[in-house]
Amino acid sequence: MCGIVGSIGKEDTVSILIKGLKRLEYRGYDSAGIAVIDQKGLILVEKRAGKVKDLENEIGEWKPDTNIGIAHTRWATHGEPNELNAHPLMDCKNRIALVHNGIIENYGSLKKILADRGHFFRTETDTEVLAHLIEEFYEGNLFEAVRQSLQEVEGTYGIAVISSLEPDKIIIARHGSPLAIGHSGGGMLVASDTAAIVDHTNKVVYLEDREIAQVSKDNYKIETIEKVIVTPKLQIIETDIKKIEKGGYSHFMLKEINEQTQIIKDSIRGRLDRESGTARLDGLDRHKKQLIETDNLIILGCGTSYYAGLIGGYVIERNAGIQVNVEYASEFRYKNPVVRKNSIAFAISQSGETADTLAAMREASRKGAVCLGICNVVGSTIARESEGGVYIHAGPEIGVASTKAFSAQVMVLNLISLLLGRMRIMSYDEGKIYVDRISEIPQKIKSVLDEADCIKEIAKLYSDRNNFLYLGRGFNFPVALEGALKLKEISYVHAEGYPAAEMKHGPIALIDKEMPVVVIAIKDSVYSKVLGNIEEVKARKGKVIAIATEKDSEIQKKADHVIYVPETIDSLYPLLTVLPMQLLAYYIAVERGCSIDQPRNLAKSVTVE
Ligand code: F6R
Repeated sequence: MCGIVGSIGKEDTVSILIKGLKRLEYRGYDSAGIAVIDQKGLILVEKRAGKVKDLENEIGEWKPDTNIGIAHTRWATHGEPNELNAHPLMDCKNRIALVHNGIIENYGSLKKILADRGHFFRTETDTEVLAHLIEEFYEGNLFEAVRQSLQEVEGTYGIAVISSLEPDKIIIARHGSPLAIGHSGGGMLVASDTAAIVDHTNKVVYLEDREIAQVSKDNYKIETIEKVIVTPKLQIIETDIKKIEKGGYSHFMLKEINEQTQIIKDSIRGRLDRESGTARLDGLDRHKKQLIETDNLIILGCGTSYYAGLIGGYVIERNAGIQVNVEYASEFRYKNPVVRKNSIAFAISQSGETADTLAAMREASRKGAVCLGICNVVGSTIARESEGGVYIHAGPEIGVASTKAFSAQVMVLNLISLLLGRMRIMSYDEGKIYVDRISEIPQKIKSVLDEADCIKEIAKLYSDRNNFLYLGRGFNFPVALEGALKLKEISYVHAEGYPAAEMKHGPIALIDKEMPVVVIAIKDSVYSKVLGNIEEVKARKGKVIAIATEKDSEIQKKADHVIYVPETIDSLYPLLTVLPMQLLAYYIAVERGCSIDQPRNLAKSVTVE
């Protein structure tokens, strides 16, 4: 959510910043801006509402004589996404420029104090108070002025600050919003996400919460806001540039959907133990005793990750016989939740930075739960703060709508259920069969993805509809929720996911000949019930798009369209049934001409509440 990049000591500062912003654009894209200090010591700022491309077009061949600059791509929280409110934001005398991710919660009271002291505000943002606060504290030392300002601030921040008064440094600080320093030959880079700087370096130092750094062209120092000197930990990151480029696909989303065969192979590689009919998850080893003893798991997540968690709840209860509470992280943190003495909480998050999930995890930990993470981004805050956990190995997910991360989360939750199951109620033979069925999944994913053209044709027929209903039961009920969410997010079509049997308790009133109903009707234990639900839709002239198990000829007679998936065991079906959902949403959005990788109002990684 919002992206920051900065460069010092390197030539071609403007193009480094613009390229960095493009790599960050998936995190926020309603406006963008850049500030550099030229050789005369002046801060030059360019900002635009809209995409980074608009900013790039605007600045054209602009090549100021500079080797220091900061830049930002925004997802608006306070104040409209217009040019004025775009970052960088400045102090009264235009001598300090600042970019900020996060929210300054006490900006109202600070603004009033600063206005009373004569500061003049130009924007509706919360961020601007910080530029004025730094100006207020400035007495010849930018690092100290930023530090003092941050002591006054409540809320979350990742910031980068430059000043024409000290044009040889960038000051950065973090609390709740990630930031890293990158060592690059002949200069230094700073970024809120290493994607912005991987073209230049793979050596980074991550800041921790409440740390502040002064970065100059050939070195840096880090301290805590409370003045404790920090010894930096240099890390080598392994981002493959190919993984963050479209690689010939028209959209990242389509690329990521198609990567799922490989991603699922990656998420199970080395983790299946056929000999013992179980899963091997090193990140949980230290907690074996607690995992054996617990009688309550809590799964916390938001959005798509929450839906993957719901599937995890079904799967773990079925395979391991442990009671699981799956909770929206945003609700859990404020409801004064009951956490039992031996509860274990899994925080599930692709980015590992989602503010609500992090806060819920901290709340669970405060109340005594062992907190484990299921994350994609290595070294992310949730991954670092949890006591252990499992990486999903989905690789960078750039499309704002999550696809491959969902599948990898569901697979990891299946592996956890297998491990817990074998510690408790699952027999050796059952475990071995589970291992075999899991190993077959990548090939089965491929065979569903090979049917993309048939889904594209169905999408064309229904792309003009304004409402969709998605129905599923059991393990596939959360898949119905996820299918509806995907459609809403990227094509702005209203869609609702429902447990199929609940339809008759209300939503059935919506059904008429205009209403497409996507029904997951695979051959599992509730198949005949779902067929009954399809009859109910057809009796009201609704159009049924069924996701069914291959060779099911019965369903052809009932549904208007059938998309087949290969046979597997009940708890693994979501890994197959979600694929037509993702493709249907994608092709409908294509037909409607939507901005697929950057849907309106959304951003990847929601680091504000
Ligand atoms: C939907 C989507 C969001 C995220 C949610 C949680 O396509 O991407 O609903 O799933 O914001 O994000 P993470 O998993 O990063 O915590």
